[in-house]
Amino acid sequence: MNTEPIQASYGRCLRDRNFITGFYQRLQGKDPRVEQMFAHTDWPQQQKALRRGISAALTFAGGSNIVQGMMGQMAEVHSRRGRAPVPPDYYTYWMDSLMESVREHDPKLTPKLEAAWRDALEVTCRFFIDRY
Ligand code: HEM
Repeated sequence: MNTEPIQASYGRCLRDRNFITGFYQRLQGKDPRVEQMFAHTDWPQQQKALRRGISAALTFAGGSNIVQGMMGQMAEVHSRRGRAPVPPDYYTYWMDSLMESVREHDPKLTPKLEAAWRDALEVTCRFFIDRY
């Protein structure tokens, strides 16, 4: 898929530092079990990791495999064997929180662009869930 419009939207979102912090507040608000998962998190490091993670997810959805190694590592971290195991049904929280943040921070978001965002991130969510 052509991810250029999504990359541009992501760029607009990242102009405000609160984009990522707001996302994590929303994600943790979805379920107390999620909040607990982040009890010992190093936030500055986590924010950087997610920025890179979303970039990689968009590149991956674009069909490029230059991010294959990073995708594999992230999937491993979130698998049952990993440091931060993520049960498959939590990905809906992740997706909804991220889209709420994109809606808040991208003034140019349209319903079509939002659907494209969801399709792109879905590729990575499925990849992680398959490796859980
Ligand atoms: C496609 C979706 C996701 C992406 C791209 C992503 C990305 C990442 C990345 C890059 C890291 C850092 C890994 C490292 O430190 O080696 C991380 C850690 C983590 N993620 Fe995710 N993640 C996703 C979904 C989720 C979901 C759904 C949850 C829980 C609801 C979650 C919870 C966590 C936790 C608890 C950590 C560890 C934080 C810590 O070090 O304390 N992630 N994630």
